[in-house]
Amino acid sequence: MLDSQLEELRRSTLAGFASARSLEELEKARVEALGRKGTLAQISKDFGKLSSEERARTGKLLNSVKQDLEGEYEGKKLRFEQAELAERLAEEWIDVTLPAPGVRPGSLHPVTQLQNEIEELFTSLGFAVLYGPEVESEEHNFDALNIPAAHPARDMQDTFWLSNGQLLRTHTSPVQVRGMRALRPPLRMIAPGRVFRNEEVDASHEHTFYQVEGMMVDRDVSVANLIYFMKTLLGGIFQREITVRLRPGYFPFVEPGFELDIQCLICSGRGCPVCKHSGWVELCPCGLVHPNVLHLSDIDPEEWSGFAFGLGLTRLAMMRYGIDDIRLLQGGDLRFLTQF
Ligand code: PHE
Repeated sequence: MLDSQLEELRRSTLAGFASARSLEELEKARVEALGRKGTLAQISKDFGKLSSEERARTGKLLNSVKQDLEGEYEGKKLRFEQAELAERLAEEWIDVTLPAPGVRPGSLHPVTQLQNEIEELFTSLGFAVLYGPEVESEEHNFDALNIPAAHPARDMQDTFWLSNGQLLRTHTSPVQVRGMRALRPPLRMIAPGRVFRNEEVDASHEHTFYQVEGMMVDRDVSVANLIYFMKTLLGGIFQREITVRLRPGYFPFVEPGFELDIQCLICSGRGCPVCKHSGWVELCPCGLVHPNVLHLSDIDPEEWSGFAFGLGLTRLAMMRYGIDDIRLLQGGDLRFLTQF
């Protein structure tokens, strides 16, 4: 009785496996036959009714049916899986010789591009390029520039002081001091770099920005020399004739001191929101080097004179590219940066 049930199970299940068209169908046939509540389990329940002889013989048959079915199931399952894999590989093959998608070369930051241009221009005019440290001494940043400790001008630049008494340079002017002491006159140097101020950040103020310091010390240097170099620089950068004007400005390390303005490039001086309808944009504080400053770096002001300027590199980049929010420059947003 049980024997014929087992034989029937073997026959029908093998037929079920054979006609299965998918892994799911195969699995369904397996569960029906071999699952915990499947036909084989049902048949086993009646084993108790058998004599011990019958039980031994039918037990053997049961095991062999079970083994046959499991073997067939595993084999067929493997074939399904391999077929599926082959299909996927055929669909998903990749041509490894194609260039990788989405790889874009990096580009130089607009401020870096401008800095490189300025360095090239000034190098061609015989200027040395110096890079001072960003962490500076109080002496280089202030004292040697004629700004002693109690001087009210210290408040012009909100300073990040370090716990060891040093500071983050508030301007590139300390590199003037380093330049005078290292190069000795006659000298021409520029010093591009990052400077830091303890400022509230908004669309036109950053705690970190870039300047280019310039300095020339020689015999009989005058304001005419200063204007010549500034016009040459700006003409080179903007690729056209630039109209400049000087207004008086105060900095302890220059005398006389000026603010150099350029005629607004957006409206050609007619007046627009960028120049606040004045026709002029403030770009570069400058002046003739104060005799005290020469003296503090051991240069005789009777023999030598010089000019110095502090070009706002960040502001210049904003003017050139029409960038109206300074925070974009350090924001690291690729949508902004990849435009340059
Ligand atoms: N160092 C000054 C500043 O950052 C600018 C400056 C440089 C003025 C050189 C005069 C001469 O405000």
